[in-house]
Amino acid sequence: MLKWTTRILLLSIFVSTCSWLDTIKDRWYVLDPTELHELAKSAIDASPNNTAGMIDHIIANLTATYPSKEIRINTDSSEWVFNNAGGAMGAMYIIHASITEYLIIFGTPLGTEGHTGLHTADDYFNILVGEQWAFRAGELEMERYPAGSVHYLPRGTAKQYKMHKGCFALEYARGWIPLMLPFGFADALTSTLDIPTLYNTVRVTAREMIQNLLIGKI
Ligand SMILES: *[C@@H]1O[C@H](CO)[C@@H](O)[C@H](O)[C@H]1NC(C)=O
Ligand SMILES: *[C@@H]1O[C@H](CO)[C@@H](O)[C@H](O)[C@H]1NC(C)=O
Repeated sequence: MLKWTTRILLLSIFVSTCSWLDTIKDRWYVLDPTELHELAKSAIDASPNNTAGMIDHIIANLTATYPSKEIRINTDSSEWVFNNAGGAMGAMYIIHASITEYLIIFGTPLGTEGHTGLHTADDYFNILVGEQWAFRAGELEMERYPAGSVHYLPRGTAKQYKMHKGCFALEYARGWIPLMLPFGFADALTSTLDIPTLYNTVRVTAREMIQNLLIGKI
């Protein structure tokens, strides 16, 4: 009886701590979805037909905008890893990863298709090159996101998506990032068994999250 009372008490303390943290998580956000959309559009204008040029433009802007004491930006744009998730496959370059935000370049020149995942974060998919298509169960027409547009996926929603032919995007997510990671790792553990990729993804993500924590960026 006492054991169960203690367990229920601890559980309710845990649940109320989590819901309290959820109400205050906004104070840890540094990046802004509207500004990132402007940045994605200016990158497209500055380097039409040149994905590498767009990425350089984005990194140069972010490092000029945000002091390195406020947020850590990974400027090594050669650091790409494969990403298999929800049945889709592409590669990503992690620009920023912390507990409440991440910013990556994700895409593939081949095209891919899969499940978006059901996430604990709001997701802003800024298309840089190509086109992304999406659809929610119950819709009969597809949603279409060309370069320069943003596909906003609120937390708790899932869609089928397709990066038709080649597509690259600047993806920004804000919310509880560590809870999104199991979706990012499930395909590697149950399907591809690409252990070096899994190792590098964990290594880079952990390195970025820890370096952000060290400067107080949660
Ligand atoms: C970064 O990009 C935004 C959006 O295009 C622009 O308003 C801002 O002036 C740029 N900042 C720097 C430092 O280049
Ligand atoms: C970009 O590529 C497309 C298709 O190859 C071409 O039609 C367009 O003129 C190019 N734009 C620039 C600015 O090079």
